[in-house]
Formats: sequence, structure tokens, C-alpha cells
Amino acid sequence: MKKLITIVLGLGLMIGAASAVEVDVEADRKAFVKYFNNVFPNVEFADYTNGVYAIDEGSREQFEDILDGIPPYEENVEKGEAEFEKYGMGDCAEFKDLSTARINYPYFDEKSQQVVTLEGDIKKCYNQQTGKKMANMKGRITRISAYISNQAAGQKINVKVESEGAKKAYAKGKAFFYAKRGQFNMSCADCHVYNTGKKARADILSPALGHTTHVPMYRAKWAGMGTLHRRYGGCLKNMRAKPLFAQSEEYRNMELFHQAMSNGLEITDARYRK
Ligand code: HEC
Repeated sequence: MKKLITIVLGLGLMIGAASAVEVDVEADRKAFVKYFNNVFPNVEFADYTNGVYAIDEGSREQFEDILDGIPPYEENVEKGEAEFEKYGMGDCAEFKDLSTARINYPYFDEKSQQVVTLEGDIKKCYNQQTGKKMANMKGRITRISAYISNQAAGQKINVKVESEGAKKAYAKGKAFFYAKRGQFNMSCADCHVYNTGKKARADILSPALGHTTHVPMYRAKWAGMGTLHRRYGGCLKNMRAKPLFAQSEEYRNMELFHQAMSNGLEITDARYRK
């Protein structure tokens, strides 16, 4: 009998140990930055906000010309401000102080045990103010999100992953990013880490470091704006994998990981990609 109790206790301890997730975000981030630094020794850390334009001089010029003119996202940001006012979104607790709003996202909410994104809270607030639902990937949500995000331009990303729940969500998001999937059996990391700088058809692959600094963005290919989750869906389709719903738990978890890897980079209002 004594033996059995010892075995049961031992198992309990083992299970306890297995469920405490081993997560070291700062170590992950440092390894991420070091990796890219080795591949692109001439790219300054701060320049990773510019995505592919940080590593490809050819397309950089085009990018700068677009920023120097009247960039196509500007009109959307202005509209976003008007919509934010029209729906009285400043009444929502989350958006009372816009100078700090963007930089708080994504975060792990202890009450719901879920990752909360800026777009998730915009939807919630819009629904509270108007009784209506808002679409997830394009249109109004991108304009309002871009307007809110612009208020944080120049502020440094500082995603926190502290509680046990947050660590679990982060670990799931990280696993999603590195998992092979789809007909091509590829992972996000295969293109945006291991093959960054190489060509995929007509595109040069951008580093995942800095991917979340300029979202939502205007894309020439879309002839319009899209959220980060719209981009996730597009890349999953490219991998011949099934896209998930924007704002799904999987995408929100991945956003937590993805954004934490960009900790220390500035949010930018240069929201353009080809
Ligand atoms: C087959 C290669 C490939 C894979 C795999 C892939 N992508 Fe992409 N992705 C691209 C290309 C090409 C672009 C456009 C050029 C660029 O910015 O890299 C892009 C762009 C992006 C961007 C926009 C970058 C920016 O600076 O705005 C994000 C974000 C992104 N991908 C995320 C992901 C995520 C998350 C996954 C995994 C679910 C993934 N990608 C998998 C090829 C890929």
C-alpha cells in the first residue's frame, strides 16, 4: 500500500512538472534578434520595422517614394479617426487614453484566460456603442485600428508574458509559427526565418522580426487595408493550408508570440507593403 501511495504521489509530481510550461520569452527574443543579426549584419535593429524594405535595397526606393508622396493608407487613417469619433469609441474604457492604447496589445486577460487583441477590443467597443457587428479583416476595423495605432508611433513594443496562462498561450502561438502544415509541408519560420532574404516567386521573404510594427497595413495587392490576421490567412493559403478565422484563438496566440519577438522595436505609421 505504501508503495502504491508513493507511486501515485510521484506521478502527481511528474504531471505537475509537465504542466508548468517552460517559457523564456526574453531568451527566445534574443535568439531571434541574434539570428537575423547574423544573416543581415548591416541591418540596424530599428530598421526591422520596414520589413522586406530593410533587407532589399531595390524595393526600398519605391517604398520611400510612396512614403514621400501621399501614401495610400493616409486617407484610411483619417477616415478611421472620423469613425472613431462618430461611434463615440472614446467612451470605451480601453480607448479613453489613446496615447497608451495600442502599446497594451496583445495581452493575456486573466479573467477570460484568452489573448486579447486591439482588433478584438475595437469590435467589442463598436458593438457596445452601436449594437452592430464589425467585419474582422478589412474596411472599418482596419481604419479604426490604424488610427489608434498611429497614436503610438515611436513607442516601443513591450509585450508581457508573465502568468502561467499567458505562458501557455505564448507556447501555443510559438508552436503554431514553427509547425509544418499544408500541402507544401512548410512552417511560417521556413519562409520568414530560415529563408529570409531569398526569393519566393516575385517576392523577397521578409524577416519575422518587425512583422507586427506597422499593422494594419495598406497593401497594393489588396488595393486596400488589411489586419495582421488577414495576412496570416493569405500566407496560410500560400502554404496550401486552410486559413483559420481572423481573431481565432490560434491566431491570437500566434500574435502574442509574433509581437513579443518584436519587443523593443518601435510602432511605425508607415503602413505600406506591396
Ligand atoms: C512560402 C513562403 C511563406 C510562408 C511559409 C509564409 N509566408 Fe508570410 N509572406 C510570404 C511572402 C512572399 C510575403 C510578402 C513578402 C514579405 O513581406 O515577406 C509574406 C508576408 C508576410 C507578412 C507581412 C510582412 C510585412 O512586413 O508586412 C506577414 C505578417 C506574414 N507573411 C506572416 C506569415 C505567417 C504568420 C506565416 C505562417 C502561418 C507565414 N507568413 C508563412 C511568404 C510566406
